[in-house]
Amino acid sequence: MARMAKVVELPSIAKINKSQGKISAQLTQALREAVQSGDLQPGDPLPSSRELAQTLGVARGTIIEAYDQLLAEGVFDSQARTGTYVSHALAKKTTQHSQKETIPSVIPLTKSALSYAQVLKEFKPLPHTPFAVSVPIGRTQPSDIWRKFGNKFRSRGAGVPSGYGEPQGVLSLRVAIADYVRRSRSVHCEPDQIVITPGIQQSLYICSQILFEPKDEVWIEDPAYRGTTAIFEHAVQNIRMVRVPVDEEGIQVETGIKLSKHARAAFVTPSHQYPLGMPMSLARRTALLAWAKQQNAWIIEDDYDSELRYNGQPFPSLQGMAPDQVIYLGTFSKVLFPSLRLGYAVLPKELVAPFCGLRVLIDRHPPAADQHVLAAFIQEGYLERHIRRTRNVYAEVREYIIGLIEKYIPQELAWLQPGDQGMHMVLWLAHHINDIEVASSALDAGIAIKAISPTFSKEQQRPGLIVGLGDFEPELMRQAIKKLSEIIQQHGKPT
Ligand SMILES: Cc1ncc(COP(=O)(O)O)c(C=O)c1O
Repeated sequence: MARMAKVVELPSIAKINKSQGKISAQLTQALREAVQSGDLQPGDPLPSSRELAQTLGVARGTIIEAYDQLLAEGVFDSQARTGTYVSHALAKKTTQHSQKETIPSVIPLTKSALSYAQVLKEFKPLPHTPFAVSVPIGRTQPSDIWRKFGNKFRSRGAGVPSGYGEPQGVLSLRVAIADYVRRSRSVHCEPDQIVITPGIQQSLYICSQILFEPKDEVWIEDPAYRGTTAIFEHAVQNIRMVRVPVDEEGIQVETGIKLSKHARAAFVTPSHQYPLGMPMSLARRTALLAWAKQQNAWIIEDDYDSELRYNGQPFPSLQGMAPDQVIYLGTFSKVLFPSLRLGYAVLPKELVAPFCGLRVLIDRHPPAADQHVLAAFIQEGYLERHIRRTRNVYAEVREYIIGLIEKYIPQELAWLQPGDQGMHMVLWLAHHINDIEVASSALDAGIAIKAISPTFSKEQQRPGLIVGLGDFEPELMRQAIKKLSEIIQQHGKPT
């Protein structure tokens, strides 16, 4: 095969015009300007004179003449091994120049741009220190098998680089999930009702976009996951959020009916109310489904961490009781690790196409390689083994933290509502303590903890902290609780 001439891509030389005077002078000027504007930065290599001559269709001597001029001016430098490059001595000057270039845009931002910028601030991930939720560390990291499967499927198996894939996700993973959720959660579905997502967050967003007509109302638990309420505050227009209070049995269906009988949908966390931690009672489940059936409303069942249960038997899913009305959302963020970004939605058949249609516009389809890795991990029984192992670790850590809180934190300022499942517990604070300020001081001290009050509507707000379970070093956790206790006491002092 004939050797192809290398074409140099240097946008700044595009303006050179052979019919307008000496080319070496034009080239010198164009390269000088590229350095001044920051298109070329100190240390950037220049193409060889041979390559550039070929690209421009001029004699090599023309390029050498321009380079020599810029070397003489100190704009370029050259070395035997590295060739010609933009001089490092210009670093200071170009930095000053590029600062001038980054003067903020004068185009005013839209309301929605400003409000999404606020969302980003609120969803900034916490550092991986006690008591951040979902940090796979120590014994809760997936085993070596995960890494081995990764290598295997990426190099030879189904996960090798390929063309565009199915928006719904790869079939082997959907088959594995259908089997897994039937056994573990009594979810009844065919693989073609499953859509693989990058986690529950995207599923919640897609539901918010496809299930509603303008002016519809939606029930949202009070308190609820901010990832749900923030969608209805920022990303959806013309749909009214009706906050329905939660008590020890879960969402108060009767109150929901009084507030908004004709709501189009209800977003709930029946296995493990977020953030309070209790399961929805059977009576409430029945009442919720009866209301939904009567009103033709959708139920969105966010089942984010029900696999991690420390006592008793789990309730079967709501989906299993009404597969035509319930959209079941699952994730591997809690049972494996959040950076995997894989979850799934189990949908009534008629919702599969609209759901996938929107997902195509967002991200086309989930990354293929990890889907194959995960399918094998589930099919060969490793996921359930991993869950059994991590459940024991979290149970141990949970007991340890409960002991530390009892020992170090004064009961009159803070008390625990531990729940019996999941990856977090609620530490309520006395009413006069501001939980957002406590969380912020804790963060300054290296403790990753979230305030609970933003999960409530304004009317129901009460202060507390969301204490995540993680397999951190015991001494690290002890120090963190001691420090947290000091912070709570400082904030709890009468003013
Ligand atoms: C209640 C609840 N729903 C959904 C999610 C989102 O999970 P994912 O990582 O799958 O997007 C979380 C994450 O913490 C959660 O707590």
